[in-house]
Amino acid sequence: MREGAEGTPSASTATAADAGTATSPSPLLEAPALKQCCAQFYASDLATWLLGESFHPGGLELTARLGQQLALTPSDRVLDVAAGRGASALLLAERFGCEVTGIDYGEASVDAANAEAASRRLAERVRFHRADAETLPFTDGEFDALICECAFCTFPDKPRAAQEFARVLRCGGRLGLTDLTSVRLQPPALAGLMGWIACVADARSVEEYVDLLQAAGFTMETVQAQDAALKELIQTVTGRLLATEILAARKQLRLPGIDFAKARALVKAGADAVAHGDLGYVVVVATNRNDPLSHCSS
Ligand SMILES: C[S@@+](CC[C@H](N)C(=O)[O-])C[C@H]1O[C@@H](n2cnc3c(N)ncnc32)[C@H](O)[C@@H]1O
Repeated sequence: MREGAEGTPSASTATAADAGTATSPSPLLEAPALKQCCAQFYASDLATWLLGESFHPGGLELTARLGQQLALTPSDRVLDVAAGRGASALLLAERFGCEVTGIDYGEASVDAANAEAASRRLAERVRFHRADAETLPFTDGEFDALICECAFCTFPDKPRAAQEFARVLRCGGRLGLTDLTSVRLQPPALAGLMGWIACVADARSVEEYVDLLQAAGFTMETVQAQDAALKELIQTVTGRLLATEILAARKQLRLPGIDFAKARALVKAGADAVAHGDLGYVVVVATNRNDPLSHCSS
């Protein structure tokens, strides 16, 4: 980790990337506020209730498969970018014996992830820090593998995040990126702030993800559609949202600030988009070819 990087950014102090806002990522909110809203939602109990312990289509089964595709071994140092509450990082450490560092923008998620690592006696090998994916607090080439699951689409500055992935990976290091894909402009129900938080508003096509990663210096190894996993997750969320709404209507659950009509419209629009082939999920495995010192051997 870079010296002095621990603890940055804080909720109240914008990072250099935040302050930079070189591009206007979204008409919704400025980049730091978008990241904060997304982080707050995924740190909430509601997110865990709606999505389960891992916050991406395919769940931990898909993460385990990704670990296999990345050929992880106990000697690997792995970075999980936007690790949420740490479910994937902990699974990879348990399953493959590797050392895992997780970062997330949400302080509460990072605290929950570190507590879970300690309770599973994995704190020696799995650590979580608060950081921004667009300004990773690590030195060049520090990791052998990097995963980023269902989060790249929420980063306002995607080219910069992709460059950061390449910078912190050693030459020949492996990237496993899984994300929502979108083939056309999304309907209004998917385009607002809720859509951004639900990872759909700024989802890109597979070709765009590939272009972004290639521009950062990655060579694609495999690109696999996993649309059925997204369909399944949307079905789960639809059922749980309905149950939540019923409990809230009966005053058995207090969830101030939730607009159920909007949430329902979002989930329905998501299901329709998947059914029409407009929204999907992809797993990309790539190799880092960046080698500023021309020492790349693998
Ligand atoms: C859909 S969740 C995925 C979490 C985890 N990767 C998983 O699959 O379970 C998206 C995560 O991205 C994090 N996030 C959003 N923007 C971020 C950023 N700029 N830097 C780091 N984390 C970010 C959020 O806090 C949230 O935990």
